[in-house]
Amino acid sequence: MLRKKLIAGNWKMNKTPADGAALVAELVTAAGKQTDVDVVVCPPFTALDAVGKALDGSTIKLGAQNLHHEASGAFTGEVSAPMLRALFATHVIIGHSERRSLFGETDAFINQKVLAALKNQLKPILCVGETLAEREAGTTLKVVQTQLEAGLQGVSKEQAATLIVAYEPVWAIGTGKVATTDQAQEVHAYVRGLLTKLFTEPVAQRVRILYGGSMKPANAPELLTQKDIDGGLIGGASLEARSFLELIRAAAAAK
Ligand code: 13P
Repeated sequence: MLRKKLIAGNWKMNKTPADGAALVAELVTAAGKQTDVDVVVCPPFTALDAVGKALDGSTIKLGAQNLHHEASGAFTGEVSAPMLRALFATHVIIGHSERRSLFGETDAFINQKVLAALKNQLKPILCVGETLAEREAGTTLKVVQTQLEAGLQGVSKEQAATLIVAYEPVWAIGTGKVATTDQAQEVHAYVRGLLTKLFTEPVAQRVRILYGGSMKPANAPELLTQKDIDGGLIGGASLEARSFLELIRAAAAAK
């Protein structure tokens, strides 16, 4: 199969190092050796070290939720790509809608982060998605196009092959309102089309496009069998081993 499914947990601002290590210990016991599905957990910065140690020797990968594009310097409160690499992170979420709406991140700023991640061999999980008002105004595809094209400026074809995109409709995040499979598949196919234009067809066929927004064990099987849905970026259901493991199993069954 061209694209292995990927299940990524975005813990957001949850879990201390001890709580995170305990959760991951359960994941490692149940799924730490499987290779059917790629699995990434993204704890807060403060838990990266402890969670990374708990993941050691397993197939589960470590991701961060954000980064600063400079390597070092006078940027109080920020964390750079080399710092994340030093903790053995392999992935980083960039441009999450909460960063965009609550912390004012622009497409241009997000683009700098994507380039910094790639330069440092971190795989970016670039998030795009429309608000409810944008969906109701019929501008979903336009919004996604702008976010994707601006976010990926200056990315080479070679770099793009390691990229991961997450389509997260803002109205579905943490609301329990999941996009219908048709709504999600439509945007995923559109994103793949844009990637084809930007980077060629073979590259676009390799990029994983994750769905995010109230993905749960109950709705995952249907979403994960859509042609262009290559996995999930999971918030709430990634905070407990049982539901996260069920999502990993659903992805394995959907391949
Ligand atoms: P929920 O799964 O809690 O809706 O969050 C989705 C999300 O924002 C993942 O990045």
